Amino acid sequence: MTKIFVTRSIPGSGLAMLKKRKSIKLDIYEKDQKIPRKELLKRVKGADIILSLLTEKIDAKVMNAAGDQLKMIANYAVGFNNIDIEAAKKRGIKVANTPSPVVSESVAEHAIALMFALAHRIVEGDDFTRAGKYKGWDPNLLVGSDLKGKTVGIIGAGRIGSGIAQRLHDGFGLKIIYSDINRNPKFEKSFKAKFRTKMQLLKESDFVTLHVPLFPSTHHLISTPEFKTMKKTAFLINTSRGPIVDELALTKALIKKEIAGAGLDVYECEPLIDCNPRDHYELRKMPNVIMTPHTASATIEARDAMSITAVKNIFAFLDKKQLPNIVI
Ligand code: DGY
Repeated sequence: MTKIFVTRSIPGSGLAMLKKRKSIKLDIYEKDQKIPRKELLKRVKGADIILSLLTEKIDAKVMNAAGDQLKMIANYAVGFNNIDIEAAKKRGIKVANTPSPVVSESVAEHAIALMFALAHRIVEGDDFTRAGKYKGWDPNLLVGSDLKGKTVGIIGAGRIGSGIAQRLHDGFGLKIIYSDINRNPKFEKSFKAKFRTKMQLLKESDFVTLHVPLFPSTHHLISTPEFKTMKKTAFLINTSRGPIVDELALTKALIKKEIAGAGLDVYECEPLIDCNPRDHYELRKMPNVIMTPHTASATIEARDAMSITAVKNIFAFLDKKQLPNIVI
């Protein structure tokens, strides 16, 4: 009997697949909320596999609390910065995540939605109209900008970056530039994309969109020097991980009008929006900042794909096969 602890019930068809499988003892945290740390430490005891969400910090303490029989952590997320990978490696625990073309498409769509909403001032227009301020057509009212002909700078030319490039190049006539640790000839050929260093990209882009994982090397990848390099008319989009952007530097750049606005789905001290509550920390009050609550992959299609992928990783592990999405 393999004991699997699920830190919170997940949407999609994955759990039903898991329930059908024989020789599994499934323990699912029953409340529809983040499991309290104390409860997590108690409930993982004896688990062979943990199916975790990105809201749970799965560190050495949790692995020790589970016990020596813990052999796999299946994360229900593409990002795995909630897991102490070194601690897992030391204990010989396999870690898997849930990338899939479906999830990438959802995040790409969300990033593009933020770009359109910013450029066409959709949220400001909605607020204005609901507030009863619309008194008649006005040629100067809420004038935004078009996307067509603009340059999008994609930092991270992986699956999500490619989804964005494909849509914006083929569908909306934007120029694509990108930066990454390596050049990507397929990406360049498919979307007529030009490779740039990060700083070159920031200088040229009208939209900068981030699609890199959170590592020590990507922490505050975008900070004061980067904002100073961007165009005053440019927008920053972050649907990757909050700490990739220095939020305090972002706030200052917005106050000084060094950039035109930002579309954020992730936050440095998530779920807090203002982890640097200083006098000038005012992101939430800015009309040129659009915020969503880490919902870039919150589509029926993506959530289903994530749950199936997480469970396929578990099945592969149980069947002693190569994990389809292995992190380590
Ligand atoms: C992921 O999969 O890493 C997303 O951020 C969560 O939906």
